[in-house]
Amino acid sequence: MLILGLESTCDESSASILEAPTDILVNVVKSQIDDLKKYGGVVPEIASRLHLNYLIGTINEALEKSSKSISDIDLIAVSHRPGLLGGLLVGTTIAKTLSLLLKKPLIMVDHLYGHLVASDLDKGIQYPCVAGIFSGAHSNIYYGKDDLTWEMICKSRDDAPGEAFDKVSKLMGLGYPGGPAIQKIAENRNDKMFKIPSPVPKSLNGDFSFSGIKTHILYQIKGSNAKTACPKENYPDLAASFQKSVAEGLSKRLIDCALEKNVKNIYIGGGVAANQILRSYLQEKSNEQGIKSEYPPLSLCVDNAAMIARAGYILHESGVKSNLSDNVYSRSVWGLDC
Ligand code: KG4
Ligand code: ZN
Repeated sequence: MLILGLESTCDESSASILEAPTDILVNVVKSQIDDLKKYGGVVPEIASRLHLNYLIGTINEALEKSSKSISDIDLIAVSHRPGLLGGLLVGTTIAKTLSLLLKKPLIMVDHLYGHLVASDLDKGIQYPCVAGIFSGAHSNIYYGKDDLTWEMICKSRDDAPGEAFDKVSKLMGLGYPGGPAIQKIAENRNDKMFKIPSPVPKSLNGDFSFSGIKTHILYQIKGSNAKTACPKENYPDLAASFQKSVAEGLSKRLIDCALEKNVKNIYIGGGVAANQILRSYLQEKSNEQGIKSEYPPLSLCVDNAAMIARAGYILHESGVKSNLSDNVYSRSVWGLDC
C-alpha cells in the first residue's frame, strides 16, 4: 500500500510517499525559513501563501523521485490540526481534491500524533513508552500504551521550548530559527556561567513553563535592577547555560514520567528533539536509570510528511475514516480523551 502524506501546519511544506508499513520512498521537505527570515519568524498569512506556492511542487517532486504516478497512491494522509489555519486549509484542500479525483481514502491526522510515531520510521517504537514532543509550539509528554492509545501526562502552561530558543536567539541578534543558531554558538562554551531557571517550576505540578526563562535572559541581555547587561562576548556562555537548563529540565521530566509509569522506553520528537545537548543529556541520564531513550534522525524530528503518512496508515488500518467535510483546527486533542 502506498500512502501520500502531506504536511503544512507551520513553515514546512512537505510531501512524502510511504510504502506501508514503514518504508519511506521519499520525504520531500520544502522549508520556508529562507522566505521567512526577513520577517524574523513565521507570519501566518505569508506562510499559508507560501504553502500554496510550494506544496503541489513537493508532491510532484515526491512522485518523480519515487518513480510513482499519482494513480499508484492508495491512501492520502494530511495534517488537519494543530497549526496555522491558513496552511492547514491549503494542505487539506489539496488532499481532499486528490481523494475526490482519485477516489482514494483520505485520513486527517493530528500533527502531534505524527511526531509521536515518527520513531516508528527509524528503529521502531516499543510499547508501553513515554514520549515527549518538543517543538516551536508544544512541550507535551505522553504515555503510549499501544500505537493508538496515548494519554497526555503534562504540557507547557505558556511558551514552547522551540519558541524560547527562537526568542533567546532573537535577543542575541542570531536570527531565526533559534535552535540551531543557539546550539552552534554554545558549542564548547561554559554552560555553568549563568544560573537559569528550570523549565519545570515546582509550583506547576510537573507542567512546563518557559516564559520565566525568556524573561530571565531578557534581563541578562538588557541589564536590570542595577545589574549590568551581559557583555556580548559572554552571549555564547549565556546560550550554553540556557540550552543546558532546557535540556536538563526536559530530560528530568521525561525520566520522572517513565519512572512513574514504570516504562523502559523514552522517545522524543519535534524540532527541539534535534538538539544535540538534549539528546546526549537524556541518553546519559536515562541510561543511569536503566531506561532506553531513542530519537529519530533530524529529518524526522522537524516537521515532515513521512510521519504524517505513517500516522495516517496506523489510523486507516484501525478503521478510522475521514471525509471531505472534516475541518481544520488550531489545537490538538491527541491524548486528551483517553
Ligand atoms: O517541530 P518543528 O519543526 O515545528 C513545529 O511544529 O513547531 O519545530 C521547530 C522548532 C523551532 O522553534 C526551532 O528553533 C527548533 O524547533 N529547533 C531546535 C533545533 N532545531 C530546531 N531547537 C533546539 N535545538 C535545535 N538543534
Ligand atoms: Zn511539528
